[in-house]
Amino acid sequence: MREFILISNHGRTKGDWRDLMAAGRMDIVAHSVISALFLSNAIRSDVLLHIILNGPPDPPKHIEITYEEGLPISKKDVGNLIRSTLWKYKPKKKVKAFPGVYVEKKSFRKLVEEKLDGEIYYLDKRGEDISKIKFGENPIFVIGDHEGIPKQELRFLKKNAKAISIGPNMYFTSQCISFLNIYLDRYFSKR
Ligand SMILES: C[S@@+](CC[C@H](N)C(=O)[O-])C[C@H]1O[C@@H](n2cnc3c(N)ncnc32)[C@H](O)[C@@H]1O
Repeated sequence: MREFILISNHGRTKGDWRDLMAAGRMDIVAHSVISALFLSNAIRSDVLLHIILNGPPDPPKHIEITYEEGLPISKKDVGNLIRSTLWKYKPKKKVKAFPGVYVEKKSFRKLVEEKLDGEIYYLDKRGEDISKIKFGENPIFVIGDHEGIPKQELRFLKKNAKAISIGPNMYFTSQCISFLNIYLDRYFSKR
């Protein structure tokens, strides 16, 4: 299983929105969901996507999406899935909003601390080139949104994870996720 942890610095933490961009750049989140989970004719069963929303009115929120029979996901309407998931949030519980979709109050730091015995990378243009990395079966990738990974989280990641670069340009978050998925598909098929 590969995991992606997306930090959305301003993603709204209540489902009271329609406009993805106005909801703290939820458009970036929606594109990332598509890149993480969709193949042309199937949903990936090898991906666990974590979305950390740090926007108002009640941050942080952690949404988890992974393939499960009955996952109500459509490429045309990812925003609706995120919005409906936020409405199902209940304090002090990890709520199963839909098959394969969970929501709870959990910070980025807490989530990563739970995974410290895993193989954690963070995406950074100045990191080690991805071609030099020997991946295990269950890599975890931390990715920022249009504002990048917040400074205090970067300091924490520098001590606890490895920085990797996928190339010389600054790419969209969703492009990084697509690249990683395809890169790992190829990487594991050659082994
Ligand atoms: C649109 S970029 C963020 C731009 C932001 N202004 C910054 O300086 O971090 C979104 C995220 O994609 C990842 N990223 C973009 N280009 C990358 C590259 N060449 N190598 C590794 N990660 C990259 C980083 O995690 C970044 O936070």
